[in-house]
Amino acid sequence: MQVIQGIKELEKFRSSLVKQEQLGLVPTMGALHAGHLSLLENARQQTDQTMVSIFVNPLQFNDSKDFDKYPKQIEKDLELLEKGGCNIVFIPDAKEVYTQQPTLSFQFGYLEKIMEGYHRPGHFNGVAIVVSKLLNIIRPHKAFFGEKDLQQLRVIQYLVKDLSMPVEIVPCTTLRETDGLAMSSRNMRLNVSQRQRALLLSQSLRKAKELLGKIPHQEIELLIQKDFSAETLEYFSIVEKQSLKKCSDPFQDKEVALCVAAFIDEIRLIDNIIVSS
Ligand code: PAF
Repeated sequence: MQVIQGIKELEKFRSSLVKQEQLGLVPTMGALHAGHLSLLENARQQTDQTMVSIFVNPLQFNDSKDFDKYPKQIEKDLELLEKGGCNIVFIPDAKEVYTQQPTLSFQFGYLEKIMEGYHRPGHFNGVAIVVSKLLNIIRPHKAFFGEKDLQQLRVIQYLVKDLSMPVEIVPCTTLRETDGLAMSSRNMRLNVSQRQRALLLSQSLRKAKELLGKIPHQEIELLIQKDFSAETLEYFSIVEKQSLKKCSDPFQDKEVALCVAAFIDEIRLIDNIIVSS
């Protein structure tokens, strides 16, 4: 496995690829877990050379404390990637990625007003800037993103489409712990009791799934809100899977996404499931 830190070295690697070779990119912020490794596995199956980028992007954190506390474990990450069969790891330096404060900013219309967009102002601009930079610098044929960050996935799909970027975005399914908790780097910050309370997110999704089609969506949302009375629920939304627009009753002929975000003390977690009628 080759570790590349500078953009010049990256360009050298990029131009050494033979024409027919497909490059697959898994962009990450490190603190890797089995969910990231499954993205890598998807990339390994679908491309010839796999690259994982590790860059904790300051621009996408709307809360500086969250950025400071974001878990970092570079040695362990490299070990996991080596075992996972990754070919190249790209770990750029923030000074090289951001040679200047970006003057450009992205707006994603409706997606800015709901769920993550509403609760984390500026977040998707930061994601879109760094993902554009990575895609432009690395020029992968395919890039792999998890459905756990469903709204981020939609933002990236629009970004690539709107700017006609020559890359295929490959969505990958969410990996869960055996008790249902969606895998996330932020789980590393949970202590034993917080870890237990965090199960409320996936439990609420399962409960809502059972109720879909039986009672109105608004009632489902109210019931779920009650379950979170001891935790800080940011949102629980029933939306159409593709547009992420509020999904009206009745629940028919649609694929809906049930999406939740909540704080377990100061740790913010998100989760979602997709349900077909
Ligand atoms: O999902 C993430 O880990 C990040 O938002 C991403 C896509 C690597 C951009 O920094």
